[in-house]
Amino acid sequence: MTTDQISHQSSEASQLFEPPADFAARAHIGSMEQYHELYRRSLEEPEAFWREITDGFEWMKPWTELLEWEPPFAKWFVDGTTNISVNCLDRHVAAGRGDRVAFYWEGEPGDTRVITYSDLLRDVQRFANALRALGLERGDRVLLYMPMVPELPVAMLACARLGLVHSVVFGGFSADAIRDRVNDAGASLVITADGGWRRGRVIPLKGNVDAALADDSCPSVGNVVVLKRCENDIAWIEGRDVWWDDAVADQSDECPAEDLPAEHPLYILYTSGTTGKPKGVVHTTAGYMVYTATTAKLIFDLRDDDIYWCTADIGWVTGHSYIVYGILGNGATSVIYEGAPNAPKEDRFWAIVEKYGVTVLYTAPTAIRTFVRWGEEHPDGHDLTSLRLLGTVGEPINPDAWLWYHRVIGGGRCPIVDTWWQTETGGVLITPLPGAIAQKPGSATLPFPGTEPQIVDEQGEALPDGTRGLLVLNRPWPGMLRGIYKDGWGVPGHPGEHGDAERFIEQYWAKFPGRYLTGDGAVRDSDGYFWIIGRVDDTLNVSGHRIGTAEVESALVSHAAVAESAVVGTPDPITGEAIAAFVTLRGGIDASDAMHAELTAHVGEKLGRFARPKQLRFADALPKTRSGKIMRRLLRDIAAGREVAGDTTTLEDLTVLAQLRGDEE
Ligand code: PRX
Repeated sequence: MTTDQISHQSSEASQLFEPPADFAARAHIGSMEQYHELYRRSLEEPEAFWREITDGFEWMKPWTELLEWEPPFAKWFVDGTTNISVNCLDRHVAAGRGDRVAFYWEGEPGDTRVITYSDLLRDVQRFANALRALGLERGDRVLLYMPMVPELPVAMLACARLGLVHSVVFGGFSADAIRDRVNDAGASLVITADGGWRRGRVIPLKGNVDAALADDSCPSVGNVVVLKRCENDIAWIEGRDVWWDDAVADQSDECPAEDLPAEHPLYILYTSGTTGKPKGVVHTTAGYMVYTATTAKLIFDLRDDDIYWCTADIGWVTGHSYIVYGILGNGATSVIYEGAPNAPKEDRFWAIVEKYGVTVLYTAPTAIRTFVRWGEEHPDGHDLTSLRLLGTVGEPINPDAWLWYHRVIGGGRCPIVDTWWQTETGGVLITPLPGAIAQKPGSATLPFPGTEPQIVDEQGEALPDGTRGLLVLNRPWPGMLRGIYKDGWGVPGHPGEHGDAERFIEQYWAKFPGRYLTGDGAVRDSDGYFWIIGRVDDTLNVSGHRIGTAEVESALVSHAAVAESAVVGTPDPITGEAIAAFVTLRGGIDASDAMHAELTAHVGEKLGRFARPKQLRFADALPKTRSGKIMRRLLRDIAAGREVAGDTTTLEDLTVLAQLRGDEE
């Protein structure tokens, strides 16, 4: 985010949106006094605070020790045992709530399904039995590459029921990305579908899996389970590939859940960092379960009559925490939508809100900015009066988009929860509680109970309010990542017991020992409200998706024509940031339009379509400091400031340009 945007945000700081009285009157947390008291207790009496919350969950063995904190390694609810699928399903069915709808599923071509908690429990148990029949055992890793269909949460929960560690890979990722993740996780099973729908087209999911596994490049994989979704033609490998329907056909509807230690790994989710290699963020069972369900309940103010809809893809952490685990953990009812916001028309979201009577809507700023561009006639054509609460996640929301969301979608009556968090944090850390905390457009406001964010300088000294700095967390919280996956995870005495500890420490803990470094810059205002500025490291946020510049650079240099590349972010009115790539070609290769197209497509193949650069420019050389560091600040200026005259603009002598500007980094 640019300096301009921030000053714009701060100038809006005086505009305060108080929780509406009728909303506050019915809310779980209905006043600032209540919030302050909750927050105080969470920090001063953590045992009592978490005990009260965890008493509402089902434990096979209740915990007696809350936290073991040997920085940076945390164990929460240390000696407790439980199973998250039991807490998401069996617990509600046993309480007589089996007929409640868990998911209203809306498929892109218009097919629909209504799935109750009893249905979901049955499907999960049958699929868990199928997984067991395929020979999978507690601790094995399973990679999921699926469309937004109910079988995706079914597969996740079935893994969780058996203590298998799932790793969901977003359906937009390429075959290369699948291969890297399968091998890093040592996955023994891949679950996919023949295809997934996207704006009427079929995404060849099974084909991408086949390509990833070709030539024996993933020796750990024994089987591929394939769900029939689009009925597109697929290749079939006898002995390896198994249809989902065949796998569950003879399975019983009952599958006892494994009794799992609190710190048993639940899942690995790969996310971009500052190197070319994505990190396998590990979340574990009990802490994640308690944290996601508690944040979901208080932030979305969930009640029995709510119809909640999170528009994220389950392939990202938002879907893991706030479509699957945190929402089912509350026994709530939600909508899952398979398709795109403009298929068949630009009013699709609002048609869905009207059809299901959605009460709580959780989406991303990039989507909101797109809706602004499409025009108010689309939401105006639908009855949106069922909505009572709105949420955003993924990137800073500009006040204009916030105000539009509030007025046009929320009819001026719905609070907005701007939730700040990360793949690593497991759940939301900074957010309004909608019945208590007044909102300022563009601010994520105040810390969630149990968390202690702070703004510090490069030395780790606390900065005064109003001064921008680095956002850190001063204490551990139950939903935090436990490490970066590596073979040997959790095996006492194994070098991989804590995963890739070196990388984990270097990335998050080395700068300020004992404190979690978020990688975000932020400022706190005089009311104690946090304003997130954006990443301060070399990761980009494109449409709320995190992409490492180093990943795009390595994808580019893996092309034979590329000698060197540098990738930076540039502000974009819709996607927040966009990818700008600067490329020098090997001798004798022309900077042609064809080469431009080829390189853009190449990044798509290496990483996924969503990571393709929006700008790609050729240069004879990249601007560097005397010590050989690429001058990224200069490239960012060029990407943002200069009119792009045709796609293959050749930059003149950048070194000279840099010297002229005195812009060395
Ligand atoms: O920069 C912050 C931004 O998204 C990053 C985390 O990305 P990811 O792990 O992909 O998770 C996204 C969904 C939780 C953060 O470091 N970010 C996320 N939410 C917000 C945000 N920036 C500003 N405001 C937010 N509400």
